[in-house]
Amino acid sequence: MAGYLNYIDEHKARFEQELFDLLRIPSISAVKSHKGDVHQAAEFIRAQFEQIGLQDVQLIETPGNPVVYGSFLEAGPDKPTVLVYGHYDVQPPDPLELWETEPFEPTVRGEDVYARGASDDKGQAYTHVKAIEAWLKTEGRLPVNVKVIIEGEEEIGSPNLVPFLEANKELLACDMVLISDTSMFDKDVPSITYGLRGLAYMQVFVQGPNRDLHSGTYGGAVQNPLNALCEIVAKLKDENGVVQIPGFYDDVIALSDEERAESAKLPFDEQAFKDSLDIEDVFGEKGYTTLERKSSRPTLDVNGIWGGYQGEGAKTVLPAKAGAKISMRLVPDQEPKKIAKLFADYVMKIAPKGVKVTVEEHHGGNAAMTDLGFYGLEAASKAFEDIYGKKPLFTREGGSIPIVADFKKVLGANSILMGFGLNSDAIHSPNEKFSLVDFQRGIKTSARFFEALAEMK
Ligand code: BES
Ligand code: ZN
Repeated sequence: MAGYLNYIDEHKARFEQELFDLLRIPSISAVKSHKGDVHQAAEFIRAQFEQIGLQDVQLIETPGNPVVYGSFLEAGPDKPTVLVYGHYDVQPPDPLELWETEPFEPTVRGEDVYARGASDDKGQAYTHVKAIEAWLKTEGRLPVNVKVIIEGEEEIGSPNLVPFLEANKELLACDMVLISDTSMFDKDVPSITYGLRGLAYMQVFVQGPNRDLHSGTYGGAVQNPLNALCEIVAKLKDENGVVQIPGFYDDVIALSDEERAESAKLPFDEQAFKDSLDIEDVFGEKGYTTLERKSSRPTLDVNGIWGGYQGEGAKTVLPAKAGAKISMRLVPDQEPKKIAKLFADYVMKIAPKGVKVTVEEHHGGNAAMTDLGFYGLEAASKAFEDIYGKKPLFTREGGSIPIVADFKKVLGANSILMGFGLNSDAIHSPNEKFSLVDFQRGIKTSARFFEALAEMK
């Protein structure tokens, strides 16, 4: 067995303890009061980079959260350069009462560690850090040139990373990007993701009368903002799951027959999918399979809606205001800015009389695709095969990693999305977890990937 694989086995317990230390830092990028924790996580990564022997280690401040950089470029100019990307920021842990154990006190149950960020993305990003350590501590070298950036704003749309890429093209120049921030198709079914959806995230406010009103005294005589908002929401999609915003589908690249046939071959068990969610039936855009609906077709969903009385018992009141947060997952070649404008125009057009409606745009990001013929995928496939004992599947996923499209646009680099998570990891939800078995296999797969890539070129 290769020396680096032995090293990974020998240091398993320490690698896990280090990951748990990182998971204890509540680096929530969406919440301003956690700025200090976000910095602490960046500091932790910087110290790690130094300990494992990366060179040119830098904690680079941005107008938002810091980017941590390190490199090891001694493989020589005839070997490819891999840019490893990950994020140390996490989503808020709410609702707290649904966590079985504290979100920032990592707890092992069975083969899994439970904590916010365990899978998305601290645990997955850390696999590469430990793979690099294994190479440097056993061989004193890496078989390819490696640069690493771990950022702290992915979960808020990476607003400062695009300017960072633009300003540091030379520093980040690479032949490909390696990312573990996606899922395997199923447990023990390794997968390489070649497509991610984009995102346009909107907020709709509805203002009615200048104060809450008695629903008897005023009901029937004024527009109710909550009813008005529901009317708007009801017109965004039809009963077949088709988005009703004019122009929404104009730039969508249709799925080819070949791609549909490949997708149909994936071992997706719809009954198991329904059972895992306790739902009677699936729902989505007519004419598409569940897999297509959740990964390669655009869609629209209300993520949150509020207004009026929600306390105990019945309070007779017409609320003065209401609001909703609505996300649209996008596919190539839909442009988030254009879709946001189409959304806003349509909402203003269908807004009922008697209320004031305003639409705001939150963060967004472009969909991304990796060229299936890209040679780096072959090395990744080989690495999975050697460590998991199976060839990986090639899949598209419905989530978004906004910077992936920019890696292609700004750096001209394809991304290799080597996911070690599972859809059942409950990322963004209470009781997020990550399998420590996959943490270990992930480290080995990453380490093997560097070698397989060097063997190719
Ligand atoms: N790791 C996820 C993206 C992901 C999830 C990809 C599942 C594939 C499958 C990432 O950290 C994430 O959640 N991204 C956000 C981006 C958004 C805030 C711009 C997302 O998809 O909601
Ligand atoms: Zn993530």
